[in-house]
Amino acid sequence: MQTDFLIIGSGIAGITYALKVAHQFPDKKILIITKAQADETNTKYAQGGIAGVMDFEKDSFDKHIEDTLIAGDGLCDPKAVEIVVKEGVDRIAELIGWGARFDKESDGDYKLGKEGGHSEFRILHHKDITGKETERALLDEINKYPNISIINHFFVVDLITQHHLGYLVTKATPDIECFGVYALNTQTNEIITLLAKITVLATGGNGQAYRSTTNPFIATGDGVAMLYRAKGRIENMEFIQFHPTALYEPNVTGQSFLITEAVRGDGGILRNKDGEAFMERYDPRKDLAPRDIVARAIDNEMKISGTEHVYLDVRHIPLEKFLEHFPNIYEKCRSIGIDIATQMIPVSPAAHYSCGGIKTDEWARTSIRNLYACGECACTGLHGANRLASNSLLEAMVYAHRAAADSALQINNLSLRENIPAWNASGTTEPKEMILITQSLKELRLLMSDYVGIVRTNTRLARAMKRIDLLWEETENLYQTTTISPQLCELRNMITVGYLIVKCAQLRKESRGLHFNTDYPGKRERAENIIL
Ligand code: FAD
Ligand code: SIN
Repeated sequence: MQTDFLIIGSGIAGITYALKVAHQFPDKKILIITKAQADETNTKYAQGGIAGVMDFEKDSFDKHIEDTLIAGDGLCDPKAVEIVVKEGVDRIAELIGWGARFDKESDGDYKLGKEGGHSEFRILHHKDITGKETERALLDEINKYPNISIINHFFVVDLITQHHLGYLVTKATPDIECFGVYALNTQTNEIITLLAKITVLATGGNGQAYRSTTNPFIATGDGVAMLYRAKGRIENMEFIQFHPTALYEPNVTGQSFLITEAVRGDGGILRNKDGEAFMERYDPRKDLAPRDIVARAIDNEMKISGTEHVYLDVRHIPLEKFLEHFPNIYEKCRSIGIDIATQMIPVSPAAHYSCGGIKTDEWARTSIRNLYACGECACTGLHGANRLASNSLLEAMVYAHRAAADSALQINNLSLRENIPAWNASGTTEPKEMILITQSLKELRLLMSDYVGIVRTNTRLARAMKRIDLLWEETENLYQTTTISPQLCELRNMITVGYLIVKCAQLRKESRGLHFNTDYPGKRERAENIIL
């Protein structure tokens, strides 16, 4: 298969890019591929909303920039912050133009929410299902462009580079080039060679590498892992953001239901098992302190009391007001027997967002030629050591736009590479025991949660690395000898992501933002990125 633009991922980053290049190049072919249904993305589950300066009387670019820098704990790239905050408002306007509906006041102004770390109300939302509405609008907009095709259930296994032409490619190779990808059609089990002039990684996050996560099953870090295998540059992987308030349901594995931070923005209060509003003891901003601080405080309260959760108390919020903003959360709680008007909601932190990822420049270019990355899989410098709530949808749109602008300058000078060999599956046989994959995955998730969670130590990180090494060895053996499946590829990718998180965590000899190591409780004077 051949295309001009190949986009891997159908979330906000991938679709925004596709719409932009489709508009500009009606005669060129744009192909989006996704490993699941098109709308099964992290984007779909976004709740709180999209941050952007909307009310210039009360708010300003400077305030949004300042809030982002404070949350990022000294590690944000100020240029990236300025780009996203200032260009973000135009991207929001485009999204609205594509049909995304955000809640309005009776006078027609947008209703603006507030979340941890924001000094002003600036979060546009569609009730508590902003992501669902956004994904719907984006997918609908694609239909207007006959030059965009979207193929579901195609699992990208690897990027094609000079390595596949028989050249030795290492991290030191100067001009690594991307010619397209090998992708597994999960319905026919065939591996297709997909050639493209420009390839875009918009593969989302990696929360599924942890036992407890707000991320859906697609979030397995595939883009980061394949970029790393292709010898591209990865940055700041240690900064995994744990959302403070995932709904605690002891029997649920896989994806935890999120209780949006906007609930605390509307007055929700965290309480420990004794009913104490404990955030007062941790930070003057209390329940609306940045996420790293709130998640660590909850973790500490749980450790002190030996409980597996704390509570979010919304009983004092008028029911009518709660229902208007959070109907989905109300319904979810009701479905499991919690009446939010009289009972507190049990919550605990869960892996939520990857602040690090594929290192990109201000035009979303990766270290590999003709390969861009945007959205959660990229590390643009915006988030630093801790992402400010509701900044990620914004970032995805801004850098998708920039990637499209830069691609537009390149595309007419590029041609498809010929003589790319077909995927070589010789010597492999059907796996005898798929259960081995499931068991290894369970082990990985457990060890990541137990040893590489909110609070880390040198000993825990060393333990994690040892176990990851073993899982790696066993899984590589399976990969080399059996026919591949999405499950095996995802396991392999999550082991790579686990390795990258631990490696970066070990290299950071300080505690900063989301990375807290009790062996190095202080911050180093100079904030540095860790690049692998
Ligand atoms: P995604 O939307 O995750 O899309 C990834 C795409 O890549 C999918 O189509 C997937 O199938 C595809 N893909 C992945 N690997 C492969 C492969 N190997 N082959 C083929 N296709 C592949 N952010 C905010 O700013 N505001 C919020 O309110 C907010 N709330 C959130 C709530 C929840 C519960 C979660 C989980 C996240 C939230 N976030 C929020 C974060 C935000 O939703 C994500 O960071 C953002 O949506 C990521 O978009 P994306 O386009 O990068 O990736
Ligand atoms: C939330 O709604 O609490 C999530 C917002 C985000 O992750 O940015």
